[in-house]
Amino acid sequence: MKILMITSEAVPFAKTGGLADAVSALSIALAKLGHDVRIVMPRYYRIDRNKLKQIPGPMGVHPGYQEIWTGVYQSTLPGAEVPVYFIDHEQSFGRDGVYGVPGATDFADNPQRFSLLGHAAFQLCRKIGWIPDIMHAHDWAASLAPILLKFNERHGDFSHTASVFTIHNIGYQGIYGKHLYPYTGLGWDHFYSAGFEDWDRINFLKAGIVSSDKLTTVSPTYAKEIQRPEFGFRMDGILRYRSNDLYGILNGVDTDIWNPAKDRLIPAQYTARTIEKKAVNKEALQKRMGLTVDANIPIVGIVTRLADQKGVAELFGPAYGSAHRICSEIKLQMVVLGAGEAWCESELVALSHKLSNFRAYVGYDESLSHLIEAGSDFFLMPSRYEPCGLNQMYSLLYGTLPIVRRTGGLADTVENYDEKTGEGTGFVLDNLTPQSIYDTVGWAAHAWYNKREHIEKMRKRAMAQKFGWDESAARYAEVYEAAIKGIEG
Ligand code: ADP
Ligand code: GLC
Repeated sequence: MKILMITSEAVPFAKTGGLADAVSALSIALAKLGHDVRIVMPRYYRIDRNKLKQIPGPMGVHPGYQEIWTGVYQSTLPGAEVPVYFIDHEQSFGRDGVYGVPGATDFADNPQRFSLLGHAAFQLCRKIGWIPDIMHAHDWAASLAPILLKFNERHGDFSHTASVFTIHNIGYQGIYGKHLYPYTGLGWDHFYSAGFEDWDRINFLKAGIVSSDKLTTVSPTYAKEIQRPEFGFRMDGILRYRSNDLYGILNGVDTDIWNPAKDRLIPAQYTARTIEKKAVNKEALQKRMGLTVDANIPIVGIVTRLADQKGVAELFGPAYGSAHRICSEIKLQMVVLGAGEAWCESELVALSHKLSNFRAYVGYDESLSHLIEAGSDFFLMPSRYEPCGLNQMYSLLYGTLPIVRRTGGLADTVENYDEKTGEGTGFVLDNLTPQSIYDTVGWAAHAWYNKREHIEKMRKRAMAQKFGWDESAARYAEVYEAAIKGIEG
């Protein structure tokens, strides 16, 4: 099958979250199954043109309001035969930031920027003479591709192309004032409540959900949750309506990057059989973060975007967040790596000053994220909602027991501790409150001090989990087949 991925992020070129990991790893896994997979994304300012190959000639894109001349560059995913095409347009993408600048709101011209991406996807295919069987769009910023396919493009070159739209996070929908609607290039006849219109504004995600042939999201539990008002961010109704076309497929882990046996970003590689070497990483982590070096005190690690989705208010909210109490009352150390909301960044700095057993690094740091996974004993992820979540899977593979909330992909991947038998792979909490986070971390620490044999058993079980992409890629291929069957009638 010929598959075009349309995305605003893909590692190693641009990343703000797990979306970037998922798109590249899925593409590689599909290519390994023998599919012809290609990716199209913007050439952001930070992606160095000198490292890319230019495809000669300008490419005209016609979103409706004016003709836009773009350039096209090409590269491949590292170590794989997956071509990546970059749409180059200075005015749209020649600036820092994917959706906006850190700490500020979205760029006001995001509708123009990502409409350009959607239109350019079709022009690119024409330019390179390659018409895909599947257009697979990821999250709201890519949603215009399936929308255009349905309303404008299905009559010509793309009459046999089907669309799949993956929701990585329903909390981000691309909602903007309707004065920006003309930039989509669609007529006002598509501006109605079962389409682009959302309380008299435009909503890219909603239009993508309505227009795509098949829908997927990144875990089976999240597929169910988003059909309910608590998790649907107002999209639950249309998702229930489309529930026969919605599939939940768990993300995998790129085990070339996240594998304690060959991870070059940590001082000591280890497997379940040589788990004693984890202690070397623990010591390195304690030293790097300026904590007391002590093998007998458990470390709770956190790596996260500092966003409400991740439960950061319940953890770090000034006055009521549980982190302060956890570190004051439970004998443990806590290490946090994160960037995001400004109030939370300053709270992390304040806590580091106040508590000798709490250390935070505010910013983005790939190698520290590996050291935290390898050197911690527990990994805390009390998300309000979590479509899939990658860090809890990394943690399991590194024998670092996750403490998670029972939601989305966390519920699908972490098995709760049974204190009678020592079965399980982590510690699961139901209610997102500072108290229940405190209780569950306390429960994990209690097991560490009093039931070490259970902790060791759980670690072995965690490290034996399989989160390869092969099986998930095969499931996507089935969805593609079903999408094609659907349009061919
Ligand atoms: P989300 O996409 O919602 O942020 P995921 O768990 O799917 O959540 O993916 C997050 C990815 O981003 C992981 O690969 C994680 O290691 C990485 N990450 C998040 N914050 C940081 C940070 N401050 N430094 C390094 N890596 C980070
Ligand atoms: C989103 C979700 C996260 C998921 C990632 C990749 O960013 O928040 O849970 O793992 O997408 O699908």
